[in-house]
Amino acid sequence: MTNTIDIIAGARPNFMKIAPIIRALDAHKVAGGPLRYRLVHTGQHYDARMSGDFFTQLGIPQPDVNLEVGSGTQAGQTAAIMTAYERLLLDVRSDLCLVVGDVTSTMACAIAAQKLCVPVAHVEGGIRSGDWTMPEEINRRVTDSITNWFFTTSAAANQNLRQSGVGEDRIFFVGNTMIDTLLSNMDRLRPPAFWDGLGLQAGEYLVTTLHRPANVDTTETFVQLLTAIAAGTRGLPVVFPVHPRTAKTLQALDCLPSCLRLVEPQPYLEFNYLVKNAKAVITDSGGITEETTVMGVPCLTLRDTTERPETVSIGTNELIGTDPACLRPALDRLFAGEWKKGGIPEKWDGHSGERIVAELERLLDYAVDFCL
Ligand code: UD1
Repeated sequence: MTNTIDIIAGARPNFMKIAPIIRALDAHKVAGGPLRYRLVHTGQHYDARMSGDFFTQLGIPQPDVNLEVGSGTQAGQTAAIMTAYERLLLDVRSDLCLVVGDVTSTMACAIAAQKLCVPVAHVEGGIRSGDWTMPEEINRRVTDSITNWFFTTSAAANQNLRQSGVGEDRIFFVGNTMIDTLLSNMDRLRPPAFWDGLGLQAGEYLVTTLHRPANVDTTETFVQLLTAIAAGTRGLPVVFPVHPRTAKTLQALDCLPSCLRLVEPQPYLEFNYLVKNAKAVITDSGGITEETTVMGVPCLTLRDTTERPETVSIGTNELIGTDPACLRPALDRLFAGEWKKGGIPEKWDGHSGERIVAELERLLDYAVDFCL
C-alpha cells in the first residue's frame, strides 16, 4: 500500500528545505518504496525571483497544486491558505502533511490538516527565538503545538520540545535540509551577471540582506542601519539584494550611502556565490546564518535574538542587536582580523533528507498512532 505525503512550500526559505526531501522521496520510489508525494505551493511568494528561480535551479518539480493565495495581511494570508488547503484536502485527502520552516504557509497548512485529522510532520520543528513580535515565532509555536512528528536541526530544538512536553518518540534529530541543499550545490555556485560590472573581488566586499518588518518598515530605523553599515565597512562595496518588502521603504528615500550596491533578489546559486566569497555578511535573516556557518563566513546578525543559537555558539554568527551603534565595534573586530573561525553543528552533513524519508517510511508503514 502506498502513502501520499503533502509537501507544503510557500515562501522563498521553504524551497531549499524541501528540495532534498523530494530528492530522497524520488530515490525511495525508484527503489520500490511505498511513499508518494503531492507538492503543494501555497503561492505566498509568487515572483520568479522569490519562487520560480529556486524551483528551476534546485531541480524541484513543478508543484502538483498551486493554491495561488498571494500577499495579504498576516490574518488575511493565513485565512486564505487555510481555506484553499482545506478545500484541497477535502477534495483529495493525503496521509500526511509535511511542513517546513516557520512561514505563514507552514502554520496555516498545519492547522488545516490537523483539523481534518491528517497528521502533521514539521521539518525544522522546535526552534524558538522567544521574540513574540516576530510573526515567525508565533508560526513556530502554533505549528509545533499541533505537530505529530518533529524533524529537528539542533540540540537546542530537541531541548525546547522536551521542555514543552513532547515525548522522545516524536522527536527525530535529523540535521538540516537547508544545508543538504547548500552542500550538494557548492560546486555549482556561480557569480551573478553583475560581478564584473560592479568590480567585485573575493574577500573585498560585504553582503547585506534586510527584510524583517522591525528593521525595514520604519524609514528612520532603516536609514540608521544603512548609515551604520556604510560607516563601518571601510569603503568596501556592500552588495544588497533587495527583498520586495524592503524595496517599498527604499523607494521613499532620497539618497543612499554610496557604498551600497542595490541589486534584485538573487537566485540561489548566485546568492550563495556572493556569500561564499564575501568578507562578511550583515543580515537579519535566520537561514542565512546557517549557510554562513557552514561556509565559514563571518556573519553579523542585526537582531536581538536568534532561534538558531548553534550558529552563534558553534558557527561564525554573532548577534549584534538592532541598535545601529553596536555595529561599529563588531565591524572593527572584523577588519582587525579578530572574527571567530567557527565549526559545523552536529548532523549538518548533507544527509538530512534521507534521514527524514527513512523515518517517514517507518512511521507510516507501522501506522503509528496518529492521535496527538
Ligand atoms: C516571508 C516570511 C519570512 C521569510 C521571508 C523570506 C512569513 C510570516 N514571513 O516574509 O519568515 O524570511 O518570507 O522572503 O511568512 N512580495 C512580492 N513578491 C513575492 C512575495 C512577496 O512582491 O513573490 C511582497 C508583497 O508586497 C508582500 C511583501 O513582499 O506584501 C511581503 O511578503 P510576505 O510573504 O508577506 O512576507 P515576507 O516579508 O516575504
